[in-house]
Amino acid sequence: FQPKALAGKRVVVTAGPTFEALDPIRGITNHSSGKMGFAIARAAREAGADVTLVAGPVSLGTPRGVARVDVKSARQMLDATLAAVPAADIFVATAAVADWRPDTQADQKIKKDGSGRAPTVSFTENPDILLTVAQSERARQGALFCVGFAAESHDLVTHAKAKRERKGIPLLVGNIGPLTFGQDDNQMLLVDAQGVRELPRASKLTLARQLIHEIAQRLP
Ligand code: C5P
Repeated sequence: FQPKALAGKRVVVTAGPTFEALDPIRGITNHSSGKMGFAIARAAREAGADVTLVAGPVSLGTPRGVARVDVKSARQMLDATLAAVPAADIFVATAAVADWRPDTQADQKIKKDGSGRAPTVSFTENPDILLTVAQSERARQGALFCVGFAAESHDLVTHAKAKRERKGIPLLVGNIGPLTFGQDDNQMLLVDAQGVRELPRASKLTLARQLIHEIAQRLP
């Protein structure tokens, strides 16, 4: 009898895009489908973990046995994540969080004023959820294993290594281009303190299971 790789462990996953409102009708978002994060949540659950999935606006069913918290904005995603990570052993940040949000959110729909002039939107930087969690006491003590993702258009290895160090995390997963938004398969680069390893092209669920295996092996 082999115990499941993550039996007794608690995992928090962020997934999908965020939506940053401009007014009650409109907002800024991106094309993240959430598929990779949902696959990781499913794979973690299959491996015996207790899983919380913090999901931005996506149209995906919740994997069986996974506790899902739906959010819209980056700040809501941060709050839901910070509520869940104090009990967690593993945090996997797959969400494509908007880097900026509009400075202000109008209470009512912004209307054309007849002048022919377009409104101006200015932006404020959003919190970096992964960085915030990675800098927490428990993460720095090694009690919370943090995993980040990187999608880059060029020089993936260089950017992925730099990103891992900047975020101060033990493991970073690079999505090997072209951008995989919405697709069912992916190809990954695993970057850790030892170096770089490739997981060949496969379905997101297959890769998620391999990634969970890699994470389980690295736990203290
Ligand atoms: O810095 P960059 O956005 O390229 O890093 C990507 C990684 O950081 C992903 O794991 C993403 O989920 C996470 N991230 C985050 N909060 C942000 C921006 C990125 O958690 N505001």
